[in-house]
Amino acid sequence: MEVVIKAGDREVAVVVADAVEQLLADKPDAVLGLATGSSPLAVYDELARRHEAGRISFARARAFMLDEYVGLPADHPERYRNVIERELLSRVDFAPGAVQGPDGLATDLVVAAEDYERAIVEAGGVDLQLLGIGTNGHIAFNEPGSSLASRTRPLPLTEQTRRDNARFFDDDMDAVPRLCMTQGLGTIMAARHLVLVAFGTVKSQAVRELVEGPVSASWPATVMQHHPHATVLLDEAAAAQLERADYYREAWAAKPGWQRL
Ligand code: GLP
Repeated sequence: MEVVIKAGDREVAVVVADAVEQLLADKPDAVLGLATGSSPLAVYDELARRHEAGRISFARARAFMLDEYVGLPADHPERYRNVIERELLSRVDFAPGAVQGPDGLATDLVVAAEDYERAIVEAGGVDLQLLGIGTNGHIAFNEPGSSLASRTRPLPLTEQTRRDNARFFDDDMDAVPRLCMTQGLGTIMAARHLVLVAFGTVKSQAVRELVEGPVSASWPATVMQHHPHATVLLDEAAAAQLERADYYREAWAAKPGWQRL
């Protein structure tokens, strides 16, 4: 696992956007994995900027979203499909239908989950999966206790996640859905490159467990320690509890220019 510590989210966004730009240059029909939440927003801003500048095109790319709330009406602004539309898709040039998400409005969620797994496989799998992390160590919506081999499925949200996300619902806990549809940890682990971004002191404990803790379903993101190509990009606050922070900084500073993220 490579750990990159930068001054802030804008600096992290440049490094991640470089990796996406390089991937799309090599493979214009690449498959991206998109995350929601506040953490990837600086990355989406940077990608939109580069698209506007003519450096990046998503015209032949496809993408799969990580997760979705169950039960929010189709036009709800916090439905992840609408969030990703607003924050990224409306600003770049994905072809119509090129971006899919788990169907939180399906009448049969289990069948919808199986269909989603199949769609990812049929697209050839995800080349680069962008991830945030929850304060309790979840990735996508895989709450603590999730099987490390789990696949896309409906799952109840923990109280902590609903409390963390209440800020997107006018701080009204009752407005936060109790159920989600999420890619599983096994689904995420099948992506070829995992790129996790985390910012702020509020994430520092989850980041410490992710990078330096034992692999455990109690901190679901720790499964990434088993991935052959995982990159974790942090600001100083999120990195504050890492024991080997100096080593990560030295390794990044010494990284040869030819070596990619
Ligand atoms: C949310 C999302 C995750 C996200 C995480 C962190 O609940 N389901 O995909 O990574 O929690 O969110 P944020 O980036 O807003 O802190």
